[in-house]
Amino acid sequence: MHVLSVSSLKGGVGKTTVALGLASAAYARGLRTLVVDLDPQCDASTGLGAFGGSTKSVADVLSSPRHAVVHDSIVASSWGKVQSGHIDVMLGSPKTLNFDHPNPTLRDLWRLEEALSIVERKYDLVLIDTPPSINGLTRTGWVASDRILIVSEPSIFSVVAADRALKAINELRKGLTPRLRALGVIINRVRPGSQEHDFRIGELKNLFQGEFLTAMLEEKATVQQAQGAGRPIHTWPGESAAQVAQVFDQLLDAAYESFALVDESRNSKKERRFGRFSRILRGKQIDKDLETGPANG
Ligand SMILES: Nc1ncnc2c1ncn2[C@@H]1O[C@H](COP(=O)(O)OP(=O)(O)OP(=O)(O)O)[C@@H](O)[C@H]1O
Ligand SMILES: [Mg+2]
Repeated sequence: MHVLSVSSLKGGVGKTTVALGLASAAYARGLRTLVVDLDPQCDASTGLGAFGGSTKSVADVLSSPRHAVVHDSIVASSWGKVQSGHIDVMLGSPKTLNFDHPNPTLRDLWRLEEALSIVERKYDLVLIDTPPSINGLTRTGWVASDRILIVSEPSIFSVVAADRALKAINELRKGLTPRLRALGVIINRVRPGSQEHDFRIGELKNLFQGEFLTAMLEEKATVQQAQGAGRPIHTWPGESAAQVAQVFDQLLDAAYESFALVDESRNSKKERRFGRFSRILRGKQIDKDLETGPANG
């Protein structure tokens, strides 16, 4: 199982859209996929046609990541009615707001990781849709992740937010979870021919140069149409939807290339040393580790 968070510290730039697009690509590919809806607005749950039916939500999971609670918080997406496949949602809830502390405890930060260990064998890919802030919820998602995809718009405020996100990821990696990396940035709602957009895209590419991926998604009405109909973009008709779907296929490929490096590094000396604090620890009792761990010192 591999875990990817889709994040930005700025609201409304397209996190949920990108998470749903990647979910659609994974679904079309036959991957067993779980979308974790960490945003109190619950847009990912809505987009995947997952409403209630379950007595529990991710808020219950964060307060008690036990077996029964985790299983009860997961429901099948209505996408399954359009095309067969395996896509589930860990239901979002407005109650997750209670977990969005500016200064979460270490124990809080590991809760989702602990919960995902319970379904480790059930899914190939977990996508986490995070809220637009760097408080407890987003960091809890990041600690459970192998990679983070940053979503940005080609505007000055988004470029600043992407820079902040990158720094926050690096801090978390150094302090707590060495396997964590930014996968890169997807620049969303690009309008071809806009000079301002070209300029900001240049800035973002500079910021994310080197090993990082920079992908682009244009502003397209078809994205909103598919979302409105509660359908995966890969099943939406027309050339425009096919182009959007292709962007997400390529993103998923890039994510999997990067996941391969996680698998390699897990066997490295440094990762083994931190092993109990990384995802290898899933399924183990973490209380004991927290008493003696590097992040606690
Ligand atoms: N490439 C695109 N083309 C057209 N519309 C888009 C595109 N990307 C996002 N949108 C629309 O913009 C709005 C905001 O997108 P979305 O909800 O994905 O952002 P978000 O970052 O998840 O927001 P929040 O911070 O509130 O969680 C939605 O109505 C979505 O349909
Ligand atoms: Mg959202």
